[in-house]
Formats: sequence, C-alpha cells, structure tokens
Amino acid sequence: MDDPTTRRLELAKLAESVRGRASVRRYLPDPVPRAQVTAMVELAVRAANAGNAQMWRFIAVDDAATRAALRGAVDDALDAMAAWPELAGKGKEIKALRAYATFFADAPLVLAVFALPYASRADEMLDARGVSREEHDRLRARPDLQSVGAAVQLFCTAAHALGYGACWMTAPVLAAPAIETLLGAEPAARLAALVPVGRSAVAAPPSSRHPLADVLEFR
Ligand SMILES: Cc1cc2nc3c(=O)[nH]c(=O)nc-3n(C[C@H](O)[C@H](O)[C@H](O)COP(=O)(O)O)c2cc1C
Repeated sequence: MDDPTTRRLELAKLAESVRGRASVRRYLPDPVPRAQVTAMVELAVRAANAGNAQMWRFIAVDDAATRAALRGAVDDALDAMAAWPELAGKGKEIKALRAYATFFADAPLVLAVFALPYASRADEMLDARGVSREEHDRLRARPDLQSVGAAVQLFCTAAHALGYGACWMTAPVLAAPAIETLLGAEPAARLAALVPVGRSAVAAPPSSRHPLADVLEFR
C-alpha cells in the first residue's frame, strides 16, 4: 500500500468514483441487496462530522408499499401547497416541482437521512446570549446539516462505486413531518434528504462544473 504506484492506482480509483458520479433519476427495478446498502452506509458514516457527534440516522426503505406511501406523503404536501392562494396560477411550476420531488419512489431502494439535534459548546453560548435563530445560523453555519451532507455525498459516491445510480434529494423534505411519522423516526430526528438508489435505467454522464478559476481564489 505504501509504494507510490499502488497509491496512484488507489487515487485513480477514488477519482473515478468521485468524477464518474452523477445524479440518476431513472432506475431499473432490480433490488439493491441489504448487504450492499450496509456497505454504502458504512462508508457514509466515515464522513467528517461536527464534534464526532454522528448526528445522522438512516432508514433504508426497500418495501414497495412504504415507498408508495412516501410518494403519497409528498403528493399530499404538494396538493396542500397548490391550494395556497399565494400560489394561484402556479399550476405548471407545481407540476414541475412534483416531478422533481417524487421520482424517488420508482427506485428499488430509498435511503431516508435524518439529522438529530446537535449543540456544541459554541451553540450553547449563543443560546445563553439569546441571539436570534438567523444570527445563530450565520455564526454557526449549521454544522449538523453540513455533517449529514458530508455523509450523503459519501453514500452517493459509494453507490456509484458499486455500480448504482443515486440522487440526493431535498425536495421531498416538503413532506418532512408526514415522512418522519410514516417511517417511525425517533421523535427528535428531522428529515434532511431522501436518496433513491438503483441500477441506472439511463446513461447519466457527469454534469458540467464551473471552471475552477471561477470558484477558487488564493489570497
Ligand atoms: C442538497 C441537494 C438537494 C438536491 N435535491 C434534489 C431534488 O430534490 N431533486 C432532484 O432531482 N435533484 C436534487 N439534487 C441533485 C442536483 O440537482 C444535482 O446534484 C446537481 O444538478 C448536479 O448534478 P450531479 O449530481 O449529476 O453532479 C439535489 C442535490 C443536493 C446536493
């Protein structure tokens, strides 16, 4: 492992897993074996996380009826939004959002990702001072959600390395309360994302990225 050639090969494999991953939104029905789901989550939990609190929780849904119920929950949430007077005349946008938020249910496996409450010493100090939620978030930048996001990215990368397609989705979080109840999540857990996983039914080439010069500066 220590020789430079082996290291270069390891890096090339990692780079392929990172660069080759793309969001996949259409899936074949072949099931994802639970052992492989476990292997993906085992890599996901290697993510850096604030205070090593490991405030993530995962519920893997491979039961078709439960997946259909999850889609129903998102449809209900969108139906309720469509009835808001503020969204009158926005039928086309609601339809597009529905498509963007519900395709997960067609995947053979859906990983629901939750964040548990996390308070560092700094959070406690800001709370003691009574700063507003907005100011608190500005000064802390949601380490809980950053940690959970790091795990989701690793999960998606692991899925790609194992030959699966996945899509990190937050649009279904519009139905968070219903989904948390439906899945029997622990009371303090808050839905952060759904990640459908399956063999890809389409070629999903990696999407483009801004030139590095536009996003990276040195000072
Ligand atoms: C936090 C987050 C939320 C996302 N939510 C959705 C979603 O609800 N529905 C969807 O189709 N894609 C969703 N995506 C996928 C993005 O659209 C996708 O990552 C982006 O277009 C870049 O494409 P790539 O993943 O293929 O590189 C989300 C991605 C992230 C990181």
